[in-house]
Amino acid sequence: MKLFLDTGDIAEVSKAAEWGVIDGVTTNPTLIAKTGRGFRETVLEICSLVPGGAISAEVVATEYDEMLREALEIASWNEQIVVKVPLIRDGIRLTKELTKRNIRTNVTLVFSVSQALLAAKAGATYISNFVGRVDDISGDGMAAVAETVAMVENYGFPSEVLVASVRHPLHVVEAVQAGAHVSTMPFKVLDQLFNHPLTDIGLKRFLDDWNAAGLEIFERVAR
Ligand code: E4P
Repeated sequence: MKLFLDTGDIAEVSKAAEWGVIDGVTTNPTLIAKTGRGFRETVLEICSLVPGGAISAEVVATEYDEMLREALEIASWNEQIVVKVPLIRDGIRLTKELTKRNIRTNVTLVFSVSQALLAAKAGATYISNFVGRVDDISGDGMAAVAETVAMVENYGFPSEVLVASVRHPLHVVEAVQAGAHVSTMPFKVLDQLFNHPLTDIGLKRFLDDWNAAGLEIFERVAR
């Protein structure tokens, strides 16, 4: 499964990129607005920090002609960019057009398998299925993910199912169990994936035993 970071924060991207386990970054208008910086400069800096990674940047128009103009502008900035498109009627039309032009797309704000079917039919590269926002209103966000994974696999759609709106590590575990192709997550959740108390206890015991025995890896050479 691919791991994407869901942020516009350069420091977070830089830290996660150092770990070498992220395959891309997703942004949205809210995340970009939080940075207090320009859209283009932020997205391009993210591209340079994750070489070869898929970097999603979203259009903000809601009518086809202007959406297309924005999409072509955003896609021209860097070949790593994936144009993020909301699941509205003009967004699906835009996705089909961008697919024809070999521009990768991430269809966002997807909450149901019926919406996901439209995104897949339009040739979406990624289908961003939101889970946390459904859980927030007492729904089961992951149910639509499992149905969408089954749908793309049963019919052989090339789209990848991307689990978005991730709130905690259990969402990532459930994304794995559902067979999702990608999970995007805030930096905090990526960081939490490392944690296990037995790792901390185990490492402490190894190091205590090693030090008590006076062992060294680089033995001093007598002159
Ligand atoms: C990702 O592409 C989405 O924009 C993001 O995961 C939304 O997350 P939120 O529901 O926490 O805002």
